[in-house]
Amino acid sequence: MTPTPAMERPGDPCTVVIFGAMGDLTKRKLLPSLYNLRCHNLLPKDFAVVGFARRPLDTAGFRTEMEHALKSFATLPVEPGIWADFESRIHYAKGEFGDPEAYRSLTSQLGQLAIEHQTRGNLLIYLATPPDDFGTIVKQLGAAGLLTESAERWVRVVVEKPFGRDLESALALNAEMRTVLTESQLFRIDHYLGKETVQNLLVFRFANGLFEPVWNRRYIDHVQITVAEELGVGSRGAFYEKTGVTRDIIQNHIFQLLCLIAMEPPSSLAAEAVRNEKVKVLEAIGALTPEQILQQAVRGQYGEGFVQGTKVLGYRQETAVAPTSRTETYAAMRLNIENWRWAGVPFYLRSGKRLAKRHTRITIQFRRPPLLLFREAGLDTIEPNRLDIDIQPEEKITLRMKAKLPGPTIRLKTVDLDFSYRDFGEQSPATGYERLLYDCMTGDMTLFHRADIVEASWRIATPILDLWASLPAREFPNYAAGSLGPASADELLNKEGRRWVNPE
Ligand code: BG6
Repeated sequence: MTPTPAMERPGDPCTVVIFGAMGDLTKRKLLPSLYNLRCHNLLPKDFAVVGFARRPLDTAGFRTEMEHALKSFATLPVEPGIWADFESRIHYAKGEFGDPEAYRSLTSQLGQLAIEHQTRGNLLIYLATPPDDFGTIVKQLGAAGLLTESAERWVRVVVEKPFGRDLESALALNAEMRTVLTESQLFRIDHYLGKETVQNLLVFRFANGLFEPVWNRRYIDHVQITVAEELGVGSRGAFYEKTGVTRDIIQNHIFQLLCLIAMEPPSSLAAEAVRNEKVKVLEAIGALTPEQILQQAVRGQYGEGFVQGTKVLGYRQETAVAPTSRTETYAAMRLNIENWRWAGVPFYLRSGKRLAKRHTRITIQFRRPPLLLFREAGLDTIEPNRLDIDIQPEEKITLRMKAKLPGPTIRLKTVDLDFSYRDFGEQSPATGYERLLYDCMTGDMTLFHRADIVEASWRIATPILDLWASLPAREFPNYAAGSLGPASADELLNKEGRRWVNPE
């Protein structure tokens, strides 16, 4: 990660408390990210980490586990000098999430560490646990007095998605959290918003005068957002069975991309100004009726196939997946944003696992220009301009245009104007969590979901999920692993005279 100017000062002194400290997220992302922030001098010098988990371990044992994890998952070289200092700040707390006694002993441990590491009592509490545990943990923290802020100290709680599994459960979870926390203490993290190109969307739109005047229904025919993965569900079958792609990717990551593309310019880059504009986009989408859902949304599940030449299992054969599973591993939908800027411009969204090629791309398809001038040259149809914003694996922006091929007759060729993040030179490898953790330590909530954003997202996704649950898919599996997805997704666009833009 290359620090941006806004990230030049270290975060505030604090203790980071990680619940679920023996889990994958801690080992693969949180620990390597904290280490990277330390290497970039963005961690406060007064700093400690406490891992809270059920496993019977002591601090020495936990440090050994963390050292192994860092050696496996660090994105920067592990420097012995830096690690020695970092390690001396790592501590362990053993406990059951529902046991009040464990929180009493955590409170006294945190009190001592605040003095030892001079953290001013600031606490960054990260819930890297299954969402079913969120309610129990925050209630216990609240009862132990660990969530109370004062003029001298802040307490922030980070929660991982999913934030509920439908509108009702999201409302209940938000209400439960609010009994012990204020909204300004709650950082709902979405790792997509930590990606460089995603952060660049606001800069691209609002720091360049060129695009904003054409960024509307007069010039844009439609927008596509694709999050395609080559990976299957791997060892997460049990989780995925209850989740599916709509809850896992579309309701959060894709809806956030859509907000950044469609929002009005905020009055400032302050967190509330940006989040106010995002929620307006979601509110302008409105819930689809059952008839609209049948017309505008399709689902799929992968069967066996070949991904990049390797034979892979179908979803129903994956570990911990039911042989008759109806869970969707692919979904595509058309949404309309009913406001002055976007009325009549379809937004087509799709995501799936086990597709031909990993790529996350936003495509802005401009309208066709009037072609009168080129008819005589036999050119009745020309592809209109297209802007592709690639988020991964490559990070680049490409504007497709037409140019005349050299020669005596008029012959047109599509040419690309492009900008790649590689042009900025070698980036320091990162996990993608650094920016987000740093923002938690400085209290910047811009990249985090606010309660009303989560609820507005579920208002759109829940009717689709409910209808699908009441009409279980009969045709699953309906796409082969390694393909571009089910035929019904192509049909969704073809029937409107459009085509998906697939990776080259
Ligand atoms: C996570 C999902 O939020 O995002 C995973 O739970 C998915 O299922 C992952 O694989 C994709 O993230 P990325 O950054 O690899 O696109």
